[in-house]
Amino acid sequence: MKQKIPNTFGLTVYARSVVTVSTVEQLQQVWDQNQENQPIMIIGEGSNTLFTADYDGIVVVNRIKGITITETQESWLLNVGAGEIWHDLVSTTVEKQLAGLENLALIPGCVGSAPIQNIGAYGIEFQKVADYVQLLELATGKIITVTDGQYGYRESIFKRRYSNGYAVIYVGIRLSKQWQPVLTYGELKNFDPQTVTSKIIFDKVCEIRHSKLPDPKILGNGGSFFKNPVVDKIVADKLLEIYPAMPIYPQVDNQVKLAAGWLIDQCGLKGFQIGGAAVHQQQALVLVNKNNATAQDVVALARYVKNAVLEKFSVTLSPEIRFIGRTGEINVDKFL
Ligand code: FAD
Ligand code: EPU
Repeated sequence: MKQKIPNTFGLTVYARSVVTVSTVEQLQQVWDQNQENQPIMIIGEGSNTLFTADYDGIVVVNRIKGITITETQESWLLNVGAGEIWHDLVSTTVEKQLAGLENLALIPGCVGSAPIQNIGAYGIEFQKVADYVQLLELATGKIITVTDGQYGYRESIFKRRYSNGYAVIYVGIRLSKQWQPVLTYGELKNFDPQTVTSKIIFDKVCEIRHSKLPDPKILGNGGSFFKNPVVDKIVADKLLEIYPAMPIYPQVDNQVKLAAGWLIDQCGLKGFQIGGAAVHQQQALVLVNKNNATAQDVVALARYVKNAVLEKFSVTLSPEIRFIGRTGEINVDKFL
């Protein structure tokens, strides 16, 4: 019998089976006992995933748990099961006064997913604290430890070379004992670096996020639907001549990151709705399941938003959300 796939969009989608695993052995067993050669995908909380159709295979929900903390003279070293909840890990470290993860509070999903898209918020990306990622190569049962994740903006080697046939099982995090607060983003700039604590930043990040981002338990969503586009400085400068208030984030190599939410907002799309899917009122980069949306509603809305931004600004948006079809991931840039 088909089983419902957990996902924060709150879409009603099914897989042939959904299996929760809490050990590496159980995970390996699902792979080994797949006699019909069904497609298999591993998820954490389904908070960055859009199932565009029922999945014709096995969805494995990773709940491999455990946090061990050791130390060197310079750092705290955390070894964390990939199925731990990311925000719970952040809260635990802040409570124990192990500083360094506070800017990444309230990001939904599991620890194992954090390196995959190199989660980022409020001036910090996962790569800043990355030590290693342990993978299970499912075809051989071999465990591989990757120390160079080749991280970029919402990018890593785990989305490319190690995407199919590998499971993230443990994540190593290194927190420097010489903590320096990161206060570069938005309202965090108002804090005094001499007196601010990890807990103060944690609380502020939680407060800002509560005010902008919908709680998936109340209003289904997958966070930012699109990535912020990175364009040549020449392109950004031309846009700035017409829209001097446009937010920009200068990058290396004469590149500039634009705020996709601002671009969508300027198209007048806040609240815009197709079927049950809508552009969030408080943050235009978030598409929400307002009223029993289907995956088709979400896809139609995303296409509409992408085209509107392209028409007005000649800037192409690319989804951050991973689109999953009947048998596996879909190339979104071709799909939308
Ligand atoms: P899933 O959606 O379950 O999986 C994502 C992808 O990783 C899938 O392709 C899946 O197959 C693969 N995968 C998952 N686990 C494994 C594993 N163990 N082994 C191999 N592959 C695996 N992201 C940010 O970067 N910054 C933010 O500020 C942010 N804010 C958000 C706010 C909201 C309200 C929401 C809903 C999402 C937000 N996100 C943000 C996106 C999301 O939280 C992150 O991408 C998160 O890391 C996804 O975790 P997950 O466990 O739910 O991943
Ligand atoms: N803006 C608007 N209107 C909107 C939305 C945003 O004018 O409707 C403006 C804001 O005023 C601000 C700028 O756009 O000047 C950027 O907005 P915000 O600070 O809310 O951040 P973002 O660029 O929309 C990114 C990440 C978030 C992350 C925040 C904080 C991406 C794709 N998104 O959002 O990550 O939490 O910065 O660092 O990079 C996610 O990945 O799912 C996610 C939520």
